[in-house]
Parts: sequence; structure tokens; C-alpha cells
Amino acid sequence: MKAIVFSKYGTPDGLELREVDKPVLRDDEVLIKVHAASVNDWDWGLLRGKPFLIRLLFGLLKPKINILGLDVAGQVETVGRNVDKFQPGDEVFGDISECGFGGFAEYVCARENALALKPASMTFDEAASIPHAAMLAIQGLRDKGQIQAGQKLLINGAGGGVGTFGVQIARLKDVEVTGVDSSGKLDMLRSLGFDHVIDYTQEDFTKNGQCYDLILDVKTNRSTFDYARALSPGGTYVTVGGSLTRVFQALVLGPWISMISKKKIRIVALKPNKDLGYVTELFEAGKVKPVLDGPYKLSEAPQAIRYLGEGSHKGKVIIAMEHDSKT
Ligand SMILES: NC(=O)c1ccc[n+]([C@@H]2O[C@H](COP(=O)([O-])OP(=O)(O)OC[C@H]3O[C@@H](n4cnc5c(N)ncnc54)[C@H](OP(=O)(O)O)[C@@H]3O)[C@@H](O)[C@H]2O)c1
Repeated sequence: MKAIVFSKYGTPDGLELREVDKPVLRDDEVLIKVHAASVNDWDWGLLRGKPFLIRLLFGLLKPKINILGLDVAGQVETVGRNVDKFQPGDEVFGDISECGFGGFAEYVCARENALALKPASMTFDEAASIPHAAMLAIQGLRDKGQIQAGQKLLINGAGGGVGTFGVQIARLKDVEVTGVDSSGKLDMLRSLGFDHVIDYTQEDFTKNGQCYDLILDVKTNRSTFDYARALSPGGTYVTVGGSLTRVFQALVLGPWISMISKKKIRIVALKPNKDLGYVTELFEAGKVKPVLDGPYKLSEAPQAIRYLGEGSHKGKVIIAMEHDSKT
């Protein structure tokens, strides 16, 4: 099969399209013929071995994982002997980060509990865009943020995967939503339903005198005190990720800020795939529509990963496989 392979930490120039063996199926896994995958921050970090925590998790000097890609959608080719949820021919999607990555390839193996059935009305590209980003948005807004009607919500880093799902999930409640991103993405944010937009290159939302009941932060590039200042009394700040130093600061200062001000500082620890069924229902009801950037061909994956890393993308960057008749 064809796959995008890397053997040392570095830049997208070190990624190669190569012919490699198909993965070997274990008893509790299914072999998926991948039709589409999406690019995530994890792929960008793993490729470069940055931040250093990545090297502690995935290999100090060289990566233990050689094929990136954690969000996949495809068709079940074969099932292991202990698999009872799926059968060959089923169309599935999921976040396979806990199954060793490997989505930027024509085939990948994943445990059945990392996958859900893809509805027929959802394209493979749409399905591949959902798992990681939509779960972060839902778990950030609903579980950690406890979003409620009537609130003022701000999403920082609104034009990427989490933000574009986030606004649609927030819109299920009657909330006023502000999106923060760079100037080139603001029209797209307005068209997605953001009531207000802020260009972060022109304005610092933590210093403009506005306050929000809920802040969902994808970038976490400011001090926890700045975020607390931008919260209304009793408001909640939720970070899904960004600068590790700032996330650590939120972890340490959060309980103290909550004690003295009743403002809540919370951190999302992603539960992969937990809400795939919920997003599928929203999709089928026409309430959530993924924002797709691409698709790129598998051979173009290095450019697609660089594009995401540089932040020029809108919504989710998609890689679509072109299977030839022999595979
Ligand atoms: N908590 C967990 O368990 C967990 C698990 C996995 C991933 N994560 C985190 O989840 C996040 C992924 O979010 P995503 O997929 O939505 O990322 P994304 O697609 O890269 O979107 C990020 C957006 O932020 C914008 N941006 C860049 N600098 C900004 C700034 N200073 N202020 C405001 N916006 C800025 C980018 O656009 P421009 O570059 O054009 O400005 C881009 O539109 C990452 O932080 C990742 O670390 C968390």
C-alpha cells in the first residue's frame, strides 16, 4: 500500500510517499481501507518532535510512529476474530490516536472501540474531519464549559477545526458568539454564524473592556490572569490546548483564581470518540456541517501538514486517498 512515511523528527520535507506493507490485523482490530483522513495539530507536533513532551511520549531521538494521521474515515476490509461491532463493507470513522496513528496511508488497523458507523449521508471527507476537533469542541463547551442559553461566548482561535465545529455546537443554544482569528478568516467566521469577530493582530480581546460568560481557547497564548479579566463574574474559561506553559499556568493558578473570584478555569482532557454518536445525530439533523479545506491527495500530505502548521487553513484540512484497482 502507499503511505506517507517519516523516520526522524523534522520538517514536512522529511515525509516520503512510499510503498509499504499493509498493517497486520490483531484479533480486536478491523483493517480499514482509508478513503479520507484529516490533519491535526498532533501530526504537526509529532512530525517536528515539538514540544519536547512529544519526544517523551513518542521517542526521545526518533519517533516510534512512522505514519502520521489520527482522524480517519473508510471502509472495513477485514475484521479480527474478536470483533463483533463491524463487518467487512461497513463505512466507519474515528480518532485512532490510541491505536498508534497511521491514517495517512491507504490502509490502517484500528480497535473497534475507536470507530463508529458513518451515515450514508456523510461523505468520507466530512467524516474524517469530525473525530478530534468536534470532540474537543463538544467536551470543551458542554462538559467543561456547561454552556447555557443567554450566555456571551468567545472562541479564541475560531477559524480552525475546533472553532468551526464549536460555533455550530454553541448555536444549538441561544448564545451570542464572538470569534477571534486572523483577518483572512473573519468573513468565513461571519458566514458560519459568529455574531462578532475580532482580528487578533489588531485587537487584544482581553484588553478591550468586553467580558464573556464562557471563553473556549484553542491557542492559550495569554496569561491566565488576562483570561480571568475577560470573564464576567462567575464566568468560565476553558482551554483545549495551545502553549503548554500557558496551559500549565492555568492548571496551577486556576484553583486559586476560582477561590478568590468565583471565576472558573478549566482544561479539557480529550476523551477520544466519546461523542461520535451525538455529532452523527447533529449532522443528520442538518445542525452541524464540517468546514473542509482541501481535499489534498495523499502525495500532497507534506504540503497539507505544512499548511496546517503555518495556520493558513480554514476548518479541517482533508487528505483524500485515490485507491487504484490493484489495492
Ligand atoms: N486537550 C486535549 O486533550 C487535546 C487533544 C488534542 C489536541 N488538543 C489541542 O486542540 C487544539 C486544536 O485546535 P484546532 O484543531 O482548532 O487548531 P487549528 O485548526 O490549528 O486552529 C487554530 C486557529 O487559531 C488561529 N490562531 C493562530 N494564532 C492565533 C492567536 N494568537 N490568536 C487567535 N487565533 C490564533 C489559527 O489561524 P491563524 O494562524 O491564521 O491565525 C487557526 O485558525 C490545539 O491547541 C491542540 O493542542 C488538545
